[in-house]
Amino acid sequence: MLTLRASSLLLIFLLPTLATAAHHHGHVHAAGDGVVISQADYQGLQAIKHDLSDPYGYLRSWNDSGLGAWSGIKCVNGNVVAITLPWRGLSGTLSHRIGQLTKLRRLSLHDNAIGGLIPSSLGFLPDLRGLYLFNNRFSGAVPASIGNCAALQAFDASNNLLTGGVPPSLANSTKLMRLNLSHNAISGDVPPEIVASPSLVFLALSHNKLSGQIPDAFAGSRRAPSSSSLKESITGSYHLAVLDLSHNSLDGPIPASLAGLQKLQVVDLAGNRLNGTIPDKLGALAELKTLDLSGNDISGEIPASLSNLTANLQSFNVSNNNLSGEVPVSLAQKFGPSSFAGNIQLCGYSASAPCPASPSPSPSVPASPAQEESKGVRRRFSTKELAFIIAGIVVGILILLALCCLLLCFLTKKRSSSSTGARSGKQTTSKAAGGAAAAGGGGRGEKPGTEVESGGEVGGKLVHFDGPMAFTADDLLCATAEIMGKSTYGTVYKATLEDGSLVAVKRLREKITKGHKDFEAEAAVLGKIRHPNLLPLRAYYLGPKGEKLLVLDFMPNGSLSQFLHARAPNTPINWETRMTIAKGTARGLAFLHDDMSIVHGNLTASNVLLDDHTNPKIADFGLSRLMTTAANSNVLAAAGALGYRAPELSKLKKASAKTDVYSLGVIILELLTGKSPAETTNGMDLPQWVASIVKEEWTSEVFDLELMRDGDNGPAGDELVDTLKLALHCVDQSASVRPDAREVLRQLEQIRPGTEGGAGTSDEGHVAAASSAGNE
Ligand SMILES: *[C@@H]1O[C@H](CO)[C@@H](O)[C@H](O)[C@H]1NC(C)=O
Ligand SMILES: *[C@@H]1O[C@H](CO)[C@@H](O)[C@H](O)[C@H]1NC(C)=O
Ligand SMILES: *[C@@H]1O[C@H](CO)[C@@H](O)[C@H](O)[C@H]1NC(C)=O
Ligand SMILES: *[C@@H]1O[C@H](CO)[C@@H](O)[C@H](O)[C@H]1NC(C)=O
Ligand SMILES: *[C@@H]1O[C@H](CO)[C@@H](O)[C@H](O)[C@H]1NC(C)=O
Ligand SMILES: *[C@@H]1O[C@H](CO)[C@@H](O)[C@H](O)[C@H]1NC(C)=O
Ligand SMILES: *[C@@H]1O[C@H](CO)[C@@H](O)[C@H](O)[C@H]1NC(C)=O
Repeated sequence: MLTLRASSLLLIFLLPTLATAAHHHGHVHAAGDGVVISQADYQGLQAIKHDLSDPYGYLRSWNDSGLGAWSGIKCVNGNVVAITLPWRGLSGTLSHRIGQLTKLRRLSLHDNAIGGLIPSSLGFLPDLRGLYLFNNRFSGAVPASIGNCAALQAFDASNNLLTGGVPPSLANSTKLMRLNLSHNAISGDVPPEIVASPSLVFLALSHNKLSGQIPDAFAGSRRAPSSSSLKESITGSYHLAVLDLSHNSLDGPIPASLAGLQKLQVVDLAGNRLNGTIPDKLGALAELKTLDLSGNDISGEIPASLSNLTANLQSFNVSNNNLSGEVPVSLAQKFGPSSFAGNIQLCGYSASAPCPASPSPSPSVPASPAQEESKGVRRRFSTKELAFIIAGIVVGILILLALCCLLLCFLTKKRSSSSTGARSGKQTTSKAAGGAAAAGGGGRGEKPGTEVESGGEVGGKLVHFDGPMAFTADDLLCATAEIMGKSTYGTVYKATLEDGSLVAVKRLREKITKGHKDFEAEAAVLGKIRHPNLLPLRAYYLGPKGEKLLVLDFMPNGSLSQFLHARAPNTPINWETRMTIAKGTARGLAFLHDDMSIVHGNLTASNVLLDDHTNPKIADFGLSRLMTTAANSNVLAAAGALGYRAPELSKLKKASAKTDVYSLGVIILELLTGKSPAETTNGMDLPQWVASIVKEEWTSEVFDLELMRDGDNGPAGDELVDTLKLALHCVDQSASVRPDAREVLRQLEQIRPGTEGGAGTSDEGHVAAASSAGNE
């Protein structure tokens, strides 16, 4: 057994962890950044190191004396949970003793030169979620045992030298979302089990030697297996989005069950020997962006239903088949001749392949269409006519080209200017790149410490703003999530990332959210807002299917509403704390109104969150900017939680700074009375009830009893009464009478001069990294 060597300082830091780890595993090692590792995992790593050849010496740090980090290793509770060593120039083989690292969740060795077999012992890893072995020299068959990895979500062994078949058992990994075995020499047929897997989102088996028919067994929109990742919670069920079986030797027809996969975005079946016709029902695949059927033996006509897809389709190719008839006009207009060429009997997609019967005769042609059809196109044009026609076509094409150029220039200009804007906002974007993942740590040609992770399995986009959080789209989507609440805007989840950190994730309702471009522009503005009393937006994620997630700080103390109304018995909240909350909320709102010109529109005690020191942070501000105008005028303005809604909102349906102040007034009343505005008394809402009591006779009945017993730190003199007057002023029926938020803050500070810490007593709000290029 090896001894533990560490500086005394480190030992102090390590001792508690060490004790528990030793308790569980018997023997432990210290390694690196305060990492303690079990004997089994230590030996496993040594065996892996032994079998790999490491010309650049990255693995030298895997030694028992090393107090620096073990390169590429991440441990939790004494077990290796991740090995991340892409682009390290590694060769040799991968030891079967990898199976000893029983807590391994991620194995990322892509872009090396590792050969030999993929160890079947990987099947012993029940927690393995990501297995990235692409761009190496692995040979032999894909071990069937990998189907035992119950947690596996992504398996990419593309671009190796693999042979054998696709193991049907992979379908036993019921969470597998991404399977990529492209660019190998895999033979046999496509297992129906795989095609029927309800969990797959990406299936890529292109550039192999697969044969036989494509099984007609595609799983439609079946329910996903029950589990709790954020991704599953938000999508409810999985759907195949990418199907790439191109460049194999598959024959037979295009399976009809394909048309049932409503979420398909990419269908690439090019370069096979498929025959039969193009199923008419493919026209129902509304989200299809790429359809490549080129280089097969498909006959019949291009179904007219495919023209339904034209608007969405970005790439379409049916060249080199045996198609006949007329190309649907919209497809012919959108895609060039090379998408259709090589089909001898296909017409109507270029000047050189005219259809025999032109349906629109030119006025100079006297023959009726029917006559012409019966004669075919026998009529000869005069040379003069021909010259005119050709000149007309050429001019037409030139004009079209010019228009396209203009449009292209316009678009690229816009895009580049918006990306400069994004950079100036200190954002970092990690975009899904087909499983290409890099990890920090000084790989060749990489900046040390940068992490350009594989994005979400489904190819989304994650944009980070200023802040301490570092996670990838994968991390985010794989986080375990529980629903915290639902609102008009969407659903909020508490998400636990792999490293144990917590974030709040808000999934916006897609139907009422702005389009990608506008959304990103507005989110970039919101992402820069930083104030101690405003909950910062840390990142957003745009999913490939239009999902929009906002990532925010998680507030362990929950909302003010919970804090006030859902607390345990005998846990009074003193006056000092209540005033801190009132002032902080007013301060945040004043900053929003005055410095950001943002109206909240839905300020409630549920939207005021509390940090560890019960400093308030307003959440959900500016969300209306992310929503469509229609949604804002129809739904959102009127949807403000009852009890907090200014009376004029029911008519005007337009939130303003003054309606926000009304809500602030209700919150202050809530703090004073301890009553929830949701419950009415004798048909009166909270402001009405308070006003009625004040009117009849000044009694201390309105105040929360707790405040009456408050000791030394309790309300002094007229503090309660003055605060009540101010709150009633805020909830005046007439908007013009209400003070603005800054005035409310000023008066609150006058009533009880600030002693609160944490949130700060001055307005130190600022716009983070505001040196924007000014394109907003
Ligand atoms: C052990 O690892 C540390 C870094 O963690 C390295 O500096 C040291 O050179 C290594 N020792 C040997 C003998 O390679
Ligand atoms: C997959 O799981 C089923 C039952 O869970 C089992 O019967 C079958 O043998 C497994 N397939 C393979 C190839 O391991
Ligand atoms: C398609 O090809 C298969 C096998 O190559 C053949 O048996 C079948 O008859 C063909 N079908 C059509 C419609 O050509
Ligand atoms: C698709 O096109 C077909 C024929 O062109 C048409 O009958 C059908 O209504 C269209 N379907 C949709 C969903 O637009
Ligand atoms: C191509 O399709 C036509 C029918 O459109 C058929 O008669 C012919 O045999 C096909 N040719 C090949 C090589 O499959
Ligand atoms: C369509 O596929 C053929 C190969 O079959 C290729 O040569 C051609 O460039 C492709 N056209 C487009 C527009 O992708
Ligand atoms: C599969 O792997 C290939 C080769 O590495 C890559 O080009 C492709 O983008 C991957 N496809 C998916 C869906 O991940």
